[in-house]
This record gives sequence, C-alpha cells and structure tokens, in this order.
Amino acid sequence: MPSTLMTIERHILESQRYAPHATGAFTQLLYDIALSAKLIARETTRAGLVDILGEAGSNNVHGEDQQKLDVYADEVIFRMNDHTGRLCVMASEERPDIIPIPEQFDTGRYVLIYDPLDGSSNIDVNVSIGTIFAIFRKISSGPRGTLEDILQPGKQLAAAGYVIYGASTMMVYSTGHGVHGFTLDPSVGEFLLSHENIQIPETPMYYSVNQGNEKYWTPGVRRYVKWLQGIYGEGRKPLSQRYIGSLVADFHRNLLKGGIYLYPGDLRSADNPNGKLRLLYEAAPLAFLCEQAGGKASDGIVPILEIQPHSLHQRVPLFIGSANLVDTANEFIRSYDRAWVERYIEHSQQEPAIT
Ligand code: AHG
Ligand code: MN
Ligand code: MN
Repeated sequence: MPSTLMTIERHILESQRYAPHATGAFTQLLYDIALSAKLIARETTRAGLVDILGEAGSNNVHGEDQQKLDVYADEVIFRMNDHTGRLCVMASEERPDIIPIPEQFDTGRYVLIYDPLDGSSNIDVNVSIGTIFAIFRKISSGPRGTLEDILQPGKQLAAAGYVIYGASTMMVYSTGHGVHGFTLDPSVGEFLLSHENIQIPETPMYYSVNQGNEKYWTPGVRRYVKWLQGIYGEGRKPLSQRYIGSLVADFHRNLLKGGIYLYPGDLRSADNPNGKLRLLYEAAPLAFLCEQAGGKASDGIVPILEIQPHSLHQRVPLFIGSANLVDTANEFIRSYDRAWVERYIEHSQQEPAIT
C-alpha cells in the first residue's frame, strides 16, 4: 500500500494553497465534475447490460446522430451544476445555445463548458469514450453570464480536464499547476491519485490521425505524415500509428507515451477549411492540459490557446502532443499549404463576431 492514499477530493482541496483567495467554490465545482464522472462511468459500464444502446432519435447541432448516453451525460453534468450558485452560465457540445442558469437559482463566478460524451460513435462497440470540461472565470459585468463569458481564448482557462471511460475510468485535470491523473476504484467509488504531475515524454512513440481522410489532405499534411512515417527525413525511425476515434482516448495515450494527434483542416469542402473538432469543447481544454504537461497544440499556424473564439460551435484544425512534433507540423504547413492557410484565415474572418 502506498504511504499516502490521495483521493481526488483531498488533492483538489490541497491544491487550493496555490489559490489563496479561492472561496472554495472552485474546489466544489471540481468535486461536482468528479461526481458527474462517477455517475456517467456507472452508466457506461452498464451500457452493454441494459437496453441503453442506440440512437436517441435526435440530432445534435452538428447534424450528427446523438446516442442515448450523450443525452444522459449532458443531463447529469447540467443538473449537477445548475443550482449550486457557483456558475454563471454553461455551454455543452450537445446544445445549440449557451445554457443559462435557471432564474430560481443563484449565480457565481465561474463558467463551465463541456463535451459530455466524446467519441460517441464508440459507445455501442465497447471502445473507450470520454468527457471533456473547461472552466473560465466570469468576465461579463451583468449578474448572469452571457456568450462573452463562453467565448474566451484558452489561455484564460482557470482549469480543464477530461474523464476517460476505458478499461478503468480515469480523471485527468489541471488548474494551471501541472497535470494530475486519478483512477476510479469502483469498489470504494473514489478517484485515487495514480499519475502525479504528468509530463509528455520527449521521445514520441505514436501518431494518431484518421488516415482514411488522406485524399482530402493538403500537400503539407500529406508530407508531414510521411515525415512521421520516416519516409522523409534522413535516418528517421517511423512512429507507430494508433487511432481509436475518441479524441480523449487518443490524446490520453499520446500524453502518457509521447506522440501527436492531428485532425487537420482539409480540402473536402470550400465552406469548411477547419476540419471537424470544436475549439471550445475539445481543442482548447486539451491544449491547456497538453501545455501544462510540456507539450504543444496548434491549428497548424498559431497556438490553440491564443485563438479568440467567435462562435459557440466553431471548429478548428488540431495538432496536439509532443512539442517538437507540433513545431514540425507548423513548419510543413507554412512551407506547403499557403493556399489553404489563406482560405482558413479568410474563413476565420467571416466567423460572426461576438455580439
Ligand atoms: P464527439 O463524439 O464528441 O462528437 O467527438 C467525436 C470526435 C473525436 O472524439 C474523434 O477524435 C473524432 O471525432 C473522430 O472523427 P473521425 O471519425 O472523423 O475520425
Ligand atoms: Mn467530442
Ligand atoms: Mn460529444
């Protein structure tokens, strides 16, 4: 038995020493997210046993099929946080608009943004899925939160994290003082510290990309992936390829083992040079964690954390993982993808501004 058994609650409480002015609301908010994660984990592990599989018969705002567990996870996180007086507004990947705190409840200083169930196409095939969360401080002046509180660049995050529902359930989070991982012991229902101060290894092992999209890739991305495969570059050993199709799971593996995950912008459609992933719900929180672990994240041009969001469900290209691999991706794009970069920048300027 280890000399100290550190539960997530105790760890969050002890981390408060870095925030001497904290009122406890922030700590409580992280507790509530951990509790939501336990409830969602209970349902995901029962998913094969009870009749919970299949589509709920509705589409989300991205036009993608929504699975029943998405709806459940979204409700759990919302209901766990709507009445606590700690939040001023929320936003979920599964909902078209910002989520106000119901009028009958008090509001607080924090903003919660979440992807309730990431990798949902993997639910009914028993493959790892996750939850991603991001916490900002309120910046608007009125009593209740607004869209302005949601549309903040990732560099202003107060905390971010994810939960992975895999062989074990783990919660990984950062409040800006390192990245820490906790594994759920289902017999006692506690998240126990298992990965303290995670640093992404400098020597990478893996690259993760949906290679099936290769025909849509830009010349720079094609060349870059060949470079990862050791086809270009004197004497470079190829990296192994691993792709689960759940961002949380692919990111988690690369965070622990070293490597890069990419979902590039591509040439598939003139209307969308930005790829698939969402800036607020997916890219920014994982970029915050990755930088805290000594890695990097970019859209191929600038750091993800520097990007000012313009709309709630904005998509962004994502290159995330070991620092040198992200730097090299940027170099390939700068050298070979001038036409795509122009289109991407023009498209970003067309995004509706904050109203
Ligand atoms: P979500 O289930 O929240 O919509 O996210 C799915 C995302 C992400 O988790 C994953 O990396 C990516 O979609 C996979 O996309 P492809 O199937 O296009 O590779
Ligand atoms: Mn997702
Ligand atoms: Mn999702």
